[in-house]
Amino acid sequence: MSGTDREVKFCFLAQPTDVNFGGKVHGGMVMKWIDQAGYACAVGWSGKYCVTVAVGGIRFVHPILIGNLVTIHCQLIYTGTTSMHFCVDVIARDLETGVDTLATHCVIVMVATDKDGKPTPVPSWEPQTDDDKALAAYAQKLMDLDKNIAQEIARYRDAAHLS
Ligand SMILES: CC(C)(COP(=O)(O)OP(=O)(O)OC[C@H]1O[C@@H](n2cnc3c(N)ncnc32)[C@H](O)[C@@H]1OP(=O)(O)O)[C@@H](O)C(=O)NCCC(=O)NCCS
Repeated sequence: MSGTDREVKFCFLAQPTDVNFGGKVHGGMVMKWIDQAGYACAVGWSGKYCVTVAVGGIRFVHPILIGNLVTIHCQLIYTGTTSMHFCVDVIARDLETGVDTLATHCVIVMVATDKDGKPTPVPSWEPQTDDDKALAAYAQKLMDLDKNIAQEIARYRDAAHLS
């Protein structure tokens, strides 16, 4: 693991134990790596225990092959009161050709919690550069889109009698 307070990078080889039935890295394994990177970044930023509350816009763009060098790049792009939003890129490098390919992208939202598991405030982050401002706007846009999805899910839960 490496990085600043605001970001972490995990780098490791995709191993035969990560494989799915089609011979590529399992999607669930990729999500576990994303979750771990989000957790490390969130605890590093807030100094508190954190949980995952949502993952937005996840897309498996390209498969990861066994033996690829995988980099999970996780960067803080927005803070609310208790939540931290992280942009995550999963890059797979073919070591023989040196070519990097974006395998997966998402925004993971982590919440800091107190000893009772209740949300607790986190240090705020202010975007400084134009790139930072664009990333913060991206997080806001995803939140707006997520409100529509949340409404649809609430309808589904009512219809399915799921509390
Ligand atoms: C995360 C949890 C503590 C939040 O508790 P809660 O009472 O629902 O809290 P709130 O509704 O006040 O939301 C807390 C924050 O999460 C954010 N949040 C909630 N749902 C969200 C969603 N779908 N997308 C993005 N952010 C979301 C809220 O906006 C709020 O952020 P803010 O304080 O920066 O404004 C609670 O839902 C929980 O324990 N969930 C299970 C977590 C878990 O088991 N994760 C997997 C293993 S780590």
